[in-house]
Amino acid sequence: MVPLIFHGTFIHSVTPREVDIIENGLLVVSATGKIVFLERNIPVEDVQKHISTLSSEPDLRSAPVTVLKHGEFLIPGFLDTHNHAPQWTQRGMGRGLLIMDWLNTVTFPHEARFKDPEYARETYAKCVDGFLKQGVTTASYYGSLHGEATKILAKTCLEKGQRALVGKCNMARSAPDFYVDESSKESLETTEDFLAYMKELDPECRLVQPILTPRFAICCDEELLDGLGKIAKREPKMMIQTHFDEARQEVEITRQLFPQFSNEADLYEYFGLFNDRTIMAHCIYPNDYEIGRLKECDVGVAHCPVSNTTGGEWGAAPIRRYIDMGIKVGLGTDNGGGFSSSILDAIRQAVITSNGRAVMTGDRNAVVSLNEAFYMATLGGAKVCNLSDKVGTFAVGKEFDALKITTAEGDRVSTLVEDVDTIADIFEKFLMTGDDRNIASVYVQGRSVKN
Ligand code: GUN
Ligand code: FE
Repeated sequence: MVPLIFHGTFIHSVTPREVDIIENGLLVVSATGKIVFLERNIPVEDVQKHISTLSSEPDLRSAPVTVLKHGEFLIPGFLDTHNHAPQWTQRGMGRGLLIMDWLNTVTFPHEARFKDPEYARETYAKCVDGFLKQGVTTASYYGSLHGEATKILAKTCLEKGQRALVGKCNMARSAPDFYVDESSKESLETTEDFLAYMKELDPECRLVQPILTPRFAICCDEELLDGLGKIAKREPKMMIQTHFDEARQEVEITRQLFPQFSNEADLYEYFGLFNDRTIMAHCIYPNDYEIGRLKECDVGVAHCPVSNTTGGEWGAAPIRRYIDMGIKVGLGTDNGGGFSSSILDAIRQAVITSNGRAVMTGDRNAVVSLNEAFYMATLGGAKVCNLSDKVGTFAVGKEFDALKITTAEGDRVSTLVEDVDTIADIFEKFLMTGDDRNIASVYVQGRSVKN
C-alpha cells in the first residue's frame, strides 16, 4: 500500500459527549496502514517541513498530500456492532411482526438459501460492498447456520478489505426443519471446523476474526450453550455475540425454556457467555439487576434503534442509562432486522428513539445527543468489539479506518451548507441529513475499499 497524507479537518469523539474538531490538522498514514503522525494547527505551507522530519518513513516524502477543502473532513470509520449478513435481501420486510413470527415467516426462509455456496458468494459480495459503501469499516456479522457459507462470508470480508467479526450461527432447536442445525453436537462440530478455517485465513486476526454466535437461548439447549461456553474458556480472546432481552415475547419464551434462571443475565453467565468479550444485541428489556450485571461483567451493548422501533413489541432501550453507568454501547444496523444498511440512519434513529423514551417516561434525562450517537457509531462501537486499541478514533499508533466526507458541489448536503456555517454546523448537518453520497472515500487499514 502507499502512504497517505491528509491536511485539513478531522473530527472524532474523545468521550461520549465530547467531539474533537481538529482544524488545520496533518495526518500521516504509513504504508502499513497505521497513523504515524497527527497534529493540529499546522499551516498548509508547513506540511512538507513536518513530513521531512519523519525520517523513519522515507517513502513519505514522495507521497501526495490530500488537502481537504472547506466542507470536507475525515471521521473514523463506522462500526456496525450487530449485523446479520444473510438478511441482506430481506431488509424492510415483516415490520411489525412479533419476533417468533418474523423469524419463522421472513428470516429463516431467507437464511436457509445460504445452503447454496454459490448463492452465498454472490449475496455476501453484495452485502459487504453495500456496507462498505455506507462507511461500515468494521462489522460484527452473524452468518447463517451453514459452515461453508460462513467461511465464504469471512473470506469475502478479507478480500474486500472490511474488518469483521464473523460467526457461524448456532441454532439447534425452536426452528423449522428446513433451517435448523442437525443437533447440538453437529452445531458445535461445525463451529470448530469454522474456527480452524479462520485460524488459517487470518492467523493473527489482522482483519477478520471469528466470534461465537449462539442465535439466542431460545434456539439453543443446555448442551449447545455449555459447549460454546467451553470454547469461550479455551479461547480467552474470542468474542461472543447473541440477542439479549430484545422483545417481551422473547423474554417470556426464554423463561419457559429455562425455568431454572430468573433472568437472561444469569442464564448466559452460567454458561460462560456473559463477560467482557460479549456483545449483547438490543438490550431493551433488562431489569435493574441485569443492567447491574451488564456493567459488572463489562458486557457490551449493540444498540439497534432501527429494528427496535419497527419490529413488533420491541421498543426503546435505556441507552442514556447505559452511557451514564459507563456500560459499553455501540450501534448496530441489524441488517434485515431493520430496514437500513446505513449507520447514519442508526445514528438518527438513536436520537429519535431516545426522545420518544424521554417523552413517554417523562424522563428528560433519557435523551441521547447527536454527539453521543456519533460516539456510539465510532469509539463506542470499537470498545464494544474490543478493538478500541486499533480503531474508533484518530491517534498515532492506531490503524487508519476512516471516511472522507464531502459536502461539496453536487452533494445533497451542499444545498444546506452556507458560507456562514462553521465546521461544527456542517458536521451536524452531515449527521442529520447526509447519506452515502457524502461518503467519498472509505479506508480500512489505510486501504481504499469503497467500490
Ligand atoms: N433473535 C433471534 N434471531 C434474531 C434475528 O435474526 N434478528 C433479531 N433482531 N433478533 C433475533
Ligand atoms: Fe439481530
